[in-house]
Amino acid sequence: MTAEKDTAWILKELEPVVEERLNWHLDKTSNWSPHDYVPWSVGHNFYALGGEDWEPTQSKLGEAAMSAMYVNLLTEDNLPSYHRVIAKTFGYDEDNPWTAWVNRWTAEEGRHSIAMRDFLVVTRAIDPVILEQARIDQVTQHFDSDKSPLEAMAYVTMQELATRIAHRNTGLESEKDGEPLANNLLKRIALDENYHMIFYRELVKAAFEVAPNDMMQAVAKEVMNFQMPGTTIREFGRHAVTIANAGIYDVPLHALEVVKPTMKLWNIEKRTDVNGKGAEVQEKLGRFLNNKLYPLATNLVSGWKSKSDQHPYLPLSEQRDI
Ligand SMILES: [Fe+2]
Ligand SMILES: [Fe+2]
Repeated sequence: MTAEKDTAWILKELEPVVEERLNWHLDKTSNWSPHDYVPWSVGHNFYALGGEDWEPTQSKLGEAAMSAMYVNLLTEDNLPSYHRVIAKTFGYDEDNPWTAWVNRWTAEEGRHSIAMRDFLVVTRAIDPVILEQARIDQVTQHFDSDKSPLEAMAYVTMQELATRIAHRNTGLESEKDGEPLANNLLKRIALDENYHMIFYRELVKAAFEVAPNDMMQAVAKEVMNFQMPGTTIREFGRHAVTIANAGIYDVPLHALEVVKPTMKLWNIEKRTDVNGKGAEVQEKLGRFLNNKLYPLATNLVSGWKSKSDQHPYLPLSEQRDI
């Protein structure tokens, strides 16, 4: 990326927006409690305390919901790495709204793994030994990133929206398998992810106002190289294929429900405030979207339709808040 404006200056310029968006976020979000979403009465002890250890027959979840729960929880479990990366990227000085946001976001993300693990262990939906071993592996291996703050804002906007969709569809898939309370919980978590997405999305909009060429380059890089977090999860590839095959999170959802509305909201293809390198990558990104990503997604969807095998989670029927 050819930076035109100093990153520290851009972050300083954005501080009033961070403060405003954090206050909006605190006003909208609610301090829900994980224990309210867990059916404790169905739980019983494991062998170490006189009960029985996990058996596959105890889970109500099918293979797809199980894979999605596993990947979603392990992704949430990697919060120590994400906190480190995000604090390093946006700063951790006292009395700085960026720091206040990073800390609040971390607290909310921590709630997601607490709630999901409690739910999965109590309902015996997944082997808790596998979950714990995979968590230890994942956190020990750790995750790092060298994204600039603008790249991180663009990436996290899409990642939060993707995570929202993945949680939401995992909940619906679990309900189909006979676990409606899992849907209840994941709907609540998805709402948090939506608010996180809105925070970053609005910051990107504000960054376009102060540094359009730098922001355009950051968006182009992140859209054209997007990867979900969690690639370091044990057996991620196998689970990702199962999740995609079930339509819980796949290329059409990513292209049509994450990238497309986000590009539209940031007015990426029609912006007239970019020039030089910014205008060059705007054109390149437009070609990538219109000649590659969107056609690939629509071809996949129409392929399914012709086989009367409609995509289970497209289009999203619920409000998108975007
Ligand atoms: Fe989360
Ligand atoms: Fe989130």
